[in-house]
Amino acid sequence: MATINANYDNLAPSYLFSEIGKRTKAFCSANPKAKVIKLGIGDTTQPLPPFIVDAMVDAAKRLGTIEGYKAFGHYGDEQGMTNLRNAIAAKYSERGVQIDASEVLVSDGAKSDLGNIQSIFGEDNNVAIQDPVYPAYLDVTAINGRSGELDKASGKYKRVFYMKCVPENNFSPEVPKSKADLIYLCSPNNPTGAVMNKSQLEKFVEHAQSTKSVIIFDAAYSAFITDKNLPRSIYEINGAKKCAIEVQSFSKSAGFTGLRLGWTVVPKDLECENAVPGRLNQLWNRRQTTFFNGASNIAQMAGLAALTPEGQAQCQQIVDYYQTNCQIIKKGLERTGLRTFGGENAPYIWARTPNNMSSWDFFDKLLNEANVVGTPGSGFGPSGEGFFRLSGFGFKEDTEEAVDRIKTRLHI
Ligand code: MLT
Repeated sequence: MATINANYDNLAPSYLFSEIGKRTKAFCSANPKAKVIKLGIGDTTQPLPPFIVDAMVDAAKRLGTIEGYKAFGHYGDEQGMTNLRNAIAAKYSERGVQIDASEVLVSDGAKSDLGNIQSIFGEDNNVAIQDPVYPAYLDVTAINGRSGELDKASGKYKRVFYMKCVPENNFSPEVPKSKADLIYLCSPNNPTGAVMNKSQLEKFVEHAQSTKSVIIFDAAYSAFITDKNLPRSIYEINGAKKCAIEVQSFSKSAGFTGLRLGWTVVPKDLECENAVPGRLNQLWNRRQTTFFNGASNIAQMAGLAALTPEGQAQCQQIVDYYQTNCQIIKKGLERTGLRTFGGENAPYIWARTPNNMSSWDFFDKLLNEANVVGTPGSGFGPSGEGFFRLSGFGFKEDTEEAVDRIKTRLHI
């Protein structure tokens, strides 16, 4: 007799971005003439850089030849192509961080790894997350049976430790005060746009080492850091290789949201209560070789191109474009009297809702009055209530128009 994984009953009925999609669709059906501008999900709009496209075309043509197919057309290493892993490791060395290619495992994107990584840890491990934060960490924790029950009054899971990120602490979390074995950190943060500086990260690394916990560091937005003093990788912090896993993505920095490519670094030095150095790297390898057959060969060739100097220069132009959008949004919202955060070293603008409106009420107001889709802050966690997020990943013209509509059409 088969039964379902009852942990799914412990989840909100739909994933945040699916819910937004559903409400937007319903609005569009009821208002077919409205020109809706979507600044909700952080989905990229700029086409792939030409250097990357050329590399993919070339790779596709080679796949149609015996030699090319033999070289990279069939099942590849589950861990990723050796030259791509080397190129990723070399990227870290530009920041003075020594990562061995064998510690880098290529994947089909950060989201999969951020969830799947839990499978190498004990079932009784407790999880800490920032509040608010990217909702996938929490949903995965619940699905894996590590969340405990949902306390309806507080909107919090009983076994999860929520690290509050609010204006009063500059959206910088404090280290967990109770048992947290796996600590998710996202910096630059989705959704607040806050970036943890070196001394803030050092506290987490010290804490993780002293409690034998493991940090799962989501660095998917590191390309948006403009301040040279801010760390782009947790491995810029001494001791982090002993206690942190880093997950990275080509999605936002190179436009691979549809192409899909990312990587995870599991250092050989990483240890935890019952794992000597090397063991966790081995387990992640074991997990990936069982559940995953490697990222698409075309995507990996594209990733390789993205990491060359030409690729990096062209990707930077796209990042600059999105950063300009962020400035347009931030300045525009502030001119309407809304208080904003983030948007400087991150592609998201986090803002207070006006007149203490709830996040979902403001979502509806923005959609109805300005025909603009944002993301309600409460969807990222209880401390996101009273905030909303706008994404810098839209088209510049749409972003300008959205800001103009917010200024002229929104009654606040
Ligand atoms: C977001 O909007 O928070 C992200 O685009 C979602 C994602 O990366 O999966």
